[in-house]
Amino acid sequence: MAEKTFYEKIMEKMLKRAFFYPSCEIYGGFSGFYDYGSTGTRIKRKWEDFWRRFFLGLEESFYEIQPAEVMPEPVFEASGHLKEFVDPLVQCSKCGYYERADTIMEEQLHETFEGITPKELDRLIKEHGIKCPKCGGKLKEVTVLNLMFNFDVGIFHSVTKGYLRPETAQGSYVCFKREYKANREKLPLGLAVVGKAFRNEISPRQGLFRMREFTQAELQIFFDPDKINEHPMFPEVKDRVLRVVPASEREKGEQMLSCEQLVQKGYPEFAVYYMARVQEFYERLGVPLDRFRFYEKNEEERAFYNKLHFDVEIFLESFGKYTEVAGFHYRGDHDLKGHQKVSGEDMSVLKEGKRFIPHVLELSFGVDRNFFTLMDLGYREEGKRQWFSLPAFVAPWTAGVYPLVKKDGLDKKAREVQRMLAEEGVDCFYDEKGSIGKRYARADEIGVAYGITIDYQTLEDDTVTVRERDSTQQERVSISELAEKLRTF
Ligand code: GLY
Repeated sequence: MAEKTFYEKIMEKMLKRAFFYPSCEIYGGFSGFYDYGSTGTRIKRKWEDFWRRFFLGLEESFYEIQPAEVMPEPVFEASGHLKEFVDPLVQCSKCGYYERADTIMEEQLHETFEGITPKELDRLIKEHGIKCPKCGGKLKEVTVLNLMFNFDVGIFHSVTKGYLRPETAQGSYVCFKREYKANREKLPLGLAVVGKAFRNEISPRQGLFRMREFTQAELQIFFDPDKINEHPMFPEVKDRVLRVVPASEREKGEQMLSCEQLVQKGYPEFAVYYMARVQEFYERLGVPLDRFRFYEKNEEERAFYNKLHFDVEIFLESFGKYTEVAGFHYRGDHDLKGHQKVSGEDMSVLKEGKRFIPHVLELSFGVDRNFFTLMDLGYREEGKRQWFSLPAFVAPWTAGVYPLVKKDGLDKKAREVQRMLAEEGVDCFYDEKGSIGKRYARADEIGVAYGITIDYQTLEDDTVTVRERDSTQQERVSISELAEKLRTF
């Protein structure tokens, strides 16, 4: 039997221990939909909490909001999604199979065709004699398919067309004015949303990487466009070195450029400051810098609303390539201007004697992709031992608490320690089932950071052993110091 690939190995682990699994599995699954399980839900929530702590902590005028997921049609007329949020679709005239036209081209010619217009794709399909990958039949003309889900909201004569939001961002734009006023008319104003978005992908694939229902963590930073070349905190980051592939210098590959050098190359200081923070976020999550990069998109490739666009990419062993996990977008006034035009609401602000429509810098993270990335980077195997090496603050549990044996009062004492730690805010569980070695292995398998063992010495001197997951090293710690030692933030 062929050896399992890295991707198959980690998928098997995650399915077995309920990180996530296909949605409605007992009905054969539902393509593009996944459920997070009892382990995965904890990790995902902790990643989201870290994201909130980090990005909302950057400025006192950054806030989280929870806008509705269903929005009416004019929102997407204004944003451009009705017209522009489309994928090129091609169908086989013989067997009826359909697929994204750029995907078929990529699979057969091993090049990327992202951002190429449907008309051009059509021409290339004919030129290269591309046929149906399933039956070899002739392909029909390339058409486009809008990726938004829509449905009727209301009944009878009061029906309106509703759309499931394709990005959380629009929720921040439609409430911008209210939030701006409620928060003392300060710029920059940051509005963050962590929530679901929906896209009717033509061919969902690669597990959590192309889903029809997915979670985004997006921060929209509204600012005065006349201040794009300044940020008061820039001196703090100016010497930091970022790993970047500028669109105009792709042939040079990844370059190590200081924030100051990026500004000298013409990238706006306001944007570079936040790029430094994004890289710092990933460094805090333990992502090695040599597997991280900002990959700039050129004019043809970037999303229709962007003036400047970097994909934030991490090299994943599962796919053997750099993979997009977040986006760094300068959207200008595209969205507020569009909403002003369609809604009739004035989106301008009056500041320092000047009236203008704020511009937007967007930090957009695919939470599911980031979740998977933690596992791809964290997977370890040593002989028979396999585990996920996750930073303690995103591990499903900070610690497991175990009695060495479940007798002689060790179990009672262990339960007391677990309760005490939980009350002190340490995320921990109690487990007494099986040998201590098996309990450690089971916890390691899902990435639990520490094992706390209550043994006979505990009954004498109120100390326990603390075992660290990666090194398996143990040290004795007094119970009174345990909570402080295990605190993850
Ligand atoms: N809001 C940007 C995106 O969904 O990619």
